Amino acid sequence: MSLLITGGTGYIGSHTVVELQALTDEQDIVIVDNLSNSSTKVLDRLIQITGKKVTFVKADICDYEAMNAIFEQHKIDAVIHFAGYKAVGESSEKPLSYYYNNVSGTVMLLKVMAEHKVKKLVFSSSATVYGDNESPLNESMATSATNPYGQTKLMIEHILFDLAKSDSNWSIACLRYFNPIGAHSSGLIGENPNGVPNNLLPYVSQVAVGRLAQLQVFGDDYDTADGTGVRDYIHVVDLAKGHVKALQNLGKISGCKAINLGTGNGTSVLEIVNTFKEISGQNIPYKIVPRRAGDLATVFADASLAYELLNWQATRDLHTMIADTWRWQSQNPQGF
Ligand code: NAD
Ligand code: UFG
Repeated sequence: MSLLITGGTGYIGSHTVVELQALTDEQDIVIVDNLSNSSTKVLDRLIQITGKKVTFVKADICDYEAMNAIFEQHKIDAVIHFAGYKAVGESSEKPLSYYYNNVSGTVMLLKVMAEHKVKKLVFSSSATVYGDNESPLNESMATSATNPYGQTKLMIEHILFDLAKSDSNWSIACLRYFNPIGAHSSGLIGENPNGVPNNLLPYVSQVAVGRLAQLQVFGDDYDTADGTGVRDYIHVVDLAKGHVKALQNLGKISGCKAINLGTGNGTSVLEIVNTFKEISGQNIPYKIVPRRAGDLATVFADASLAYELLNWQATRDLHTMIADTWRWQSQNPQGF
């Protein structure tokens, strides 16, 4: 039996592969990735961490022939689907590229899965589908999106719900991630954004390591304790373990189920900066600038459904998240 991991050399995919490898020797892992936002160096690091090999196929999920060949060559039992583009700002500049890669790519993957009667799927969705609902965000709230990236996640969720309705053999977990940060405790794998980071943690850690001069804090006039934005940061290893639990519990899920993966706690930008400074011992210069368009004041999860359905909850605290981020960044100042 094999498990197919799309986007498995990326940030969350690689950490999930580590957790899956720890689980069993009986299941082979096949990674498919086009390396548009990752490197084959990840594969060597995975072997260093786990001592086990994975099968890697460099291919695009939009390529029917290549995807079909993977299903012909391996007895795939289930798929965890991470592959996609994820930069909110870029998605407004290149909407077609986002709709094609994320939505068409997923439709292509589902078509090949259906043809090979593989109907177990774990999908990377995002808390962005909650639009401007008030936190804590729960899975029964209405969904909406404000940018093309968010629209792709929402469209894919609709496609998955429709698909599961049309054929009761599908079991699908749509995992809505909050803000993944941190890295594997070995410091061998971690987040490695191309160019200037859009997200807070990679930005702060690149300032701490001296690659960037100064953080811009987007607004200190929000209705939060210190005026800066509050988010639900979750350790990427906890998130990875959530995928393992989702996979193990797919049998209990009939149809398609949306499930939050968050901690249920909120942390402000300044709390992140101060904790990072304390743990790294580095100065982190910052300046307050106007709010970033589209940002909300406070976003955090109601994480109770994941506990009820999957017996999963996040266990790593902010200190561990930041210590692990710093270990990865200081050991790999330029990334992979
Ligand atoms: P990532 O960019 O590190 O990983 C995605 C991987 O997919 C990359 O290795 C990339 O090369 C690959 N890929 C992209 N398009 C592909 C294609 N057409 N064919 C094959 N491979 C392709 O991103 P990540 O942070 O690991 O995110 C994984 C998933 O989780 C994405 O779908 C993302 O939208 C979702 N997500 C991420 C976050 C976050 O903050 N990191 C939050 C919510 C949801
Ligand atoms: N922030 C700064 N300066 C920066 C970057 C971010 O002050 O340089 C602030 C933001 O204003 C926000 C917080 O840090 O208050 C977190 O911002 P991120 O960009 O790290 O994360 P977001 O919550 O904006 O977005 C993330 C993912 C999206 C996903 C969303 C879902 O990047 O893909 O969570 O909740 F859609």
